[in-house]
This record gives sequence, C-alpha cells and structure tokens, in this order.
Amino acid sequence: GKGNYRHFMEKEIHEQPEAIAHTLHAVLDSGTGAATIPAPLDAATIPKITIVAAGTSYYAGLTGRYWLESLAGIATEVELASEFRDRDAVLPEGGVTIAVSQSGESLDTLMALRRAKALGQKTLAIVNVPESTIAREADGVLLTRAGPEFGVASTKATTAQLTAFCSLAVALGRKHGRLSEERAAELRRALAGVPGRVGEVLQREAQYQRVARELAHSRDVLYLGRGLSYPIALEGALKLKEITYIHAEGYAAGEMKHGPIALIDEKMPVVVLAPSDGWFEKTASNVAEVRARGGRVILLTDAAGAERLAEKDDHVMILPDVEPVVAPILYAVPVQLLAYYAAVEKGTDADQPRNLAKSVTVE
Ligand code: F6R
Repeated sequence: GKGNYRHFMEKEIHEQPEAIAHTLHAVLDSGTGAATIPAPLDAATIPKITIVAAGTSYYAGLTGRYWLESLAGIATEVELASEFRDRDAVLPEGGVTIAVSQSGESLDTLMALRRAKALGQKTLAIVNVPESTIAREADGVLLTRAGPEFGVASTKATTAQLTAFCSLAVALGRKHGRLSEERAAELRRALAGVPGRVGEVLQREAQYQRVARELAHSRDVLYLGRGLSYPIALEGALKLKEITYIHAEGYAAGEMKHGPIALIDEKMPVVVLAPSDGWFEKTASNVAEVRARGGRVILLTDAAGAERLAEKDDHVMILPDVEPVVAPILYAVPVQLLAYYAAVEKGTDADQPRNLAKSVTVE
C-alpha cells in the first residue's frame, strides 16, 4: 500500500535512498567493492555499445553514455527503441546492445532488443523486473533493485538505473585501464555516499513544494542542463508534462540560443541544473541570457554554485556537494519533487496520469 503517503509516486520518491543502496549492493562485489561486469560486457574488447530504451529509461541511457565514454572510453550510442527497431542501423561485429527498461515489458524496447540480436549484437538487459520478457531474451541481465514501482511516472527505478550505469562504467573503466585504482575507489566512495545525499535532498523537500506551487500555474516551463545534467533536464520536463499536463521542454543549455530562447519572457520559468562541474561556467552564461530576457530562473545547484550564480530574483535550491560524476543521480530527485508537488497543487492524479499506462505494450 501507500502507507502514509498520498500517492505511490510520493512514496517511491522517498524510497530512493534504499533503491539506490540496494542497487549498489547488488552490483558491487562485497569483497573488493568493485562492480561485477555482467556478460556480454565482460568481453576483452567492445567496439561499441548501443543503448536502446524509451521515455525515462532512454534518458537514463543518455546519462549512461556520458559515463561509458568518459569513464570507460567505450564508443556509445543511445537510440529511442521505437526508432531503432525499424532503422537500418549499422553496428560493428562484437558490439553490445543494452536494453534499459524498468518493466522489462515495453514493446518497443523488446523489439529493439530483438532487432539488435538479428543484427548480430550481443545483448544486455538493465531491468527492474527479473522475470520480465526483456530479461529473459537478453544474453545477460543487470538487475536494478528499486523494488516494485507502481506510480506511472518512474522515479526510484530511474535513479536505480543511473546507479547501475555509473557503477558499471566505473568497473569497465578500471578493467580497460582507463581509470586508476585510486580514481575508481574515489568514485565508488562517491556512489556509496549517494543514498545519504538523496536523503538530505528529501529532508529539504519543503522548498521544492513552494516553488512547485508557482510552477503549477505556468503555461510552459523550460529545463536546461549541460553535459551530465542535460539528460536530467530532459527527464525533468518529461516528469512535469506527464503528471501536470503543463507544457515543458528540456534543452541542452548551449542549444537554447539556437531557437528556444525566443520563447523566454517574464512568464517563462526556466529550471537550470547547474552542479559545480566542468560545464558550470558555460551553463552560467546561458543563465545570464535567460535573465537578460526576463525569464524566471529556478536554480538547482550546490553551495559553491549558488555563491557564483544566484541573483536575488532567482529561486535557488541548494543540493548537497557531491563528486560531479555522480551528480545526475542526485539531481534527478529535485526534478521529481518539482513535478510531483506541481501535480498536487494542480490536483491532477500523479499516480494515474491521463492517457498513460505503467507499461506500454503496444506500438
Ligand atoms: C516516464 C515513464 C515512461 C517510461 C517508459 C519506458 O516517467 O515512466 O517514460 O520510462 O514508458 O518504460 P520502461 O522503463 O518500463 O521500459
């Protein structure tokens, strides 16, 4: 049941520290602390990884690409399952396709997995439901341990997917000699700290509730992020639109000047994801462009970022400091809270949004 929560979504948002911790526990070897690399990713060389998924799982895949490239040095492509399944993709021999799916039943993702197999790829499923069709059909399985998710909008399964991707990329980076043992150990410690940091975000949720009340009365909302925060901007926009029916768009911060900047005026809230990382300075200059056009800035950052960037008219939400590599797992949480509390304010049913099903088994 929902316990003391109004919605499954609220409950599942609050279950994230355990979902992440359990996923880490399942992925990491208890002796060495290193992640076990599931077949077929344990091959000596991997010419390319192709990630196929839909919706939120696709955004987790986009984040996974940044990690697989930068930590493991493996060429990675991410594809919408519904497109990939009917495309003439050209994939290298020995390539690995990863199908990412909470339910393990999304038909498009299943079809993309079958297509990858037909193209001679080895396959891995990252799923939350062990007995699902996608888990059964893939050559290897990496289970996320979020526990059953009932809210139609995915929350704890998403952060569990991100956790699985990041741990996997660290392990692959170590195996292929891209990461020193020292750096890998540092990243594992950062991952181990994420459940606690997520708990801190949840303790301070009243601030998200306040800002969400304002978002709930907007017609459109823009989410901006760069690098590792870009997929989380996409995720934030999807969460908001699916449960509040407010039009929202996620954009790569640097792409804003190529079009969406035309939309910005005093009525347009712009949620900016800006942890102090290698992309921060560039994101900061995009924030200046938003302000110059009167846009209302809602800043998700850390203490150092707020010090550098916040201005008095902004809504500023300060997240705990974390190693920038693991920041997307943490920053996924406030965008869920903003969407959830905006839905509560609007009175829409966060658990059962109109026109949506928990697992999409149609084309
Ligand atoms: C959004 C959401 C959907 C799913 C998508 C894929 O909050 O839940 O976008 O992520 O339908 O579902 P799975 O991961 O079960 O394949």
